[in-house]
Amino acid sequence: MTTKTRYWTPADGEAGVNEAAAVLAAGGVVAFPTETVYGLGADARSEQAAERIFAAKGRPSDNPLIVHLADAADVDALAAEVSPRERSLMAAFWPGPLTLVLPVRPGAVSARVTAGLDTVAVRVPAHETARQLIAAAGCPVAAPSANRSGRPSPTLAQHVLDDLEGRIDGVLDGGATGVGVESTVVRVLGDDIHILRPGGVTAEQLQAAAGGAARIVTSGAGEAAPETEPAAGTPSPAAAYTAERAPRSPGVKYVHYAPAGVMAIASGAPEAVRAAVQAAVDAARRRGELAGVLCCDEHAELYSADAVIALGPRAAPEAAARGLYAALRDCDARGLRFIAAEAFTEEGLGAALMNRMRKAAGGRVLPVGER
Ligand code: TXA
Ligand code: MG
Repeated sequence: MTTKTRYWTPADGEAGVNEAAAVLAAGGVVAFPTETVYGLGADARSEQAAERIFAAKGRPSDNPLIVHLADAADVDALAAEVSPRERSLMAAFWPGPLTLVLPVRPGAVSARVTAGLDTVAVRVPAHETARQLIAAAGCPVAAPSANRSGRPSPTLAQHVLDDLEGRIDGVLDGGATGVGVESTVVRVLGDDIHILRPGGVTAEQLQAAAGGAARIVTSGAGEAAPETEPAAGTPSPAAAYTAERAPRSPGVKYVHYAPAGVMAIASGAPEAVRAAVQAAVDAARRRGELAGVLCCDEHAELYSADAVIALGPRAAPEAAARGLYAALRDCDARGLRFIAAEAFTEEGLGAALMNRMRKAAGGRVLPVGER
């Protein structure tokens, strides 16, 4: 399957957006920028269009997609019912990186998009180009991240082209995305706001917006669980590390964001983390492997490795979240066989950052000495 992939630069402006919208309206698949990551969009009402998303990504089709709207007022066309608490979250965070799982209005979107569930995940992106595109297309737009399945999500149009050129109808370039990790997916049940996937809106922000009566429930968040133990027969050093075990959740079966090399994460006191990361890199290099480090800015100068990628200041996970996926792609481009990563804070956006880092590492942790 080879398709000519059109490419619209930011300089194409409104004309580019309108051409991309016409492709979507005609049942095509087009990648577009959002404030989180690039999405691969298609008309959410069309079975064939949705099918093309799965085919292009090489993604199993039993994983439901997020439906993107240009305007919060359009949510009632998709959802059978929206509670006052859900409406207040929309008012607080839309447009923005919050996805709500709502009871679907029968027939509103293709069953390919909901994976046959009786709910639909909906968000209004906080990216001007995305909203212009969706409004001009005149349909709800289903869009997972615009990467090949198993690759890091794209935060640049070039990442999309690297993965999907020849497999999709077009890419609308809007420059680098802002947040860098995907939206927060929530399900509201009574006073409980369940975070199904941590993302661009933090638990702290949700709590502040929802008020004291609401409870933010993060335990058992499906995507927080590492999907698999390191596979049997995985070469050293993977086998040497214990996989963190977390509760599995049904429907979350796929490994995401894994770099080609083996990645492991060190957490704890900064000095002990630094020693553990350097020791693991030294061991990998003695095995003859190209070994790299993902670390905070403060430690970048102190490592000796084949590649040292500084993600941002230790105390500010926003920068690291913005750059993580590009860094993982960079690890692959450099042919790293082993990647030792420093953990960042779990607070604020750090929860989503660490969720994605643990997934990239397949749950592998580095032993860190006590201090
Ligand atoms: O930031 C984002 O959310 C990006 C950009 C492109 O908007 N999109 C994105 O879509 O990450 P995707 O398809 O890669 O992730 C969809 C997530 C998955 O965790 C999926 O399981 C969950 O949303 N999801 C979708 N529909 C659901 C539903 N009906 N019930 C529960 N979870 C659902
Ligand atoms: Mg994705």
